[in-house]
Amino acid sequence: MIVVLDKLDYCSNLKNLLPSRASPKFKFVKGDIGSAHLVSYLLVTESIDTIMHFAAQIHVDNSFGNNFEFTKNNIYGTHVLLEACKVTGGQIRRFIHVSTGEVYRETNEDAIVGNHEASQLLPTSPYFATKAGVEMLMMAYGRSYGLPVITTRGNNVYGPNQFPEKLIPKFILLAMRGEPLPIHRYGSNVRSYVYCEDVAKAFEIILHRGEVGHVYNIGTEKERRAIDVAKDMCKFFSLDVDAVIEFVDNRPFNDQRYFLNNQKLKKLGWSEGTTWEDGLKKTIDWYTCHSNWWGNVSRALLPNPRMIMLPGIVGEFDKIQI
Ligand SMILES: NC(=O)c1ccc[n+]([C@@H]2O[C@H](COP(=O)([O-])OP(=O)(O)OC[C@H]3O[C@@H](n4cnc5c(N)ncnc54)[C@H](O)[C@@H]3O)[C@@H](O)[C@H]2O)c1
Repeated sequence: MIVVLDKLDYCSNLKNLLPSRASPKFKFVKGDIGSAHLVSYLLVTESIDTIMHFAAQIHVDNSFGNNFEFTKNNIYGTHVLLEACKVTGGQIRRFIHVSTGEVYRETNEDAIVGNHEASQLLPTSPYFATKAGVEMLMMAYGRSYGLPVITTRGNNVYGPNQFPEKLIPKFILLAMRGEPLPIHRYGSNVRSYVYCEDVAKAFEIILHRGEVGHVYNIGTEKERRAIDVAKDMCKFFSLDVDAVIEFVDNRPFNDQRYFLNNQKLKKLGWSEGTTWEDGLKKTIDWYTCHSNWWGNVSRALLPNPRMIMLPGIVGEFDKIQI
């Protein structure tokens, strides 16, 4: 039985859950992880024994405008989840926290010696700092209260159904409209892209074979400069690169590269099954058939979008009784 708790912020879409919603083993609950009442109620009434914690504010551009929301949703929200697990008893068998490779700061393979996952966290943006802060809370609840926590740190995910504030779906929708593809800092920044099905496979492996207390990078060797992603897009849509690419001002916290060593995950049996070309084609095919999935997304397609986030809930825990 799977229960999905999500507050349905600007980036979400209930249609993404359509394939699962018909199943009697699936339940969707609209709500905030920062609501201690709701989280505790669900843990008890649904007999939750495993948590896979993906909920977060994640878009760097949004953190320029209002990064307190990142603290409320990411740090306070996770703290509520952890505390609710502690006070509702010991039925949790796994708590998987989904962090990000950006907590390491920019990295390349030459700088990594030995166990990458044991490296110091050196986040460069308020968003990355909230993810690193959450990792400290996870560690504390694991060590002091015996909560069986595992943390993952991932590279960029791409694929169908992704809100188009992210580079790849944004470029696809702009290319489909024949609009310019905006590139920061002459497109020299390198990002690594893992196809969503390979990421899902990694989570399944970590859930069943990951060791409690450990951290696993979900990293890929498929690196691309932003300018190369734009060129690949132009190839698919038969567009003239020089006419379509538009260089725009760089943004703060734009680290050069996030290389993640994935040896530890590979030792659990994970491998990437999707080539960059296949993944990109499947993604483009999906957006071509579902160009109106979110309705009007023109705001998300701006070079530096600032989306309006739902306010996070803070300060309810002191009133809770179990
Ligand atoms: N997308 C990536 O490339 C990537 C890479 C590495 C790590 N991650 C991590 O993976 C996780 C999921 O990322 P994503 O790309 O699916 O993000 P997303 O922005 O597409 O989705 C986040 C979801 O969390 C929900 N949410 C946010 N705050 C909430 C709250 N307080 N209570 C309940 N629901 C809340 C939103 O409504 C949304 O449905 C995040 O923790 C992110 O840091 C993502």
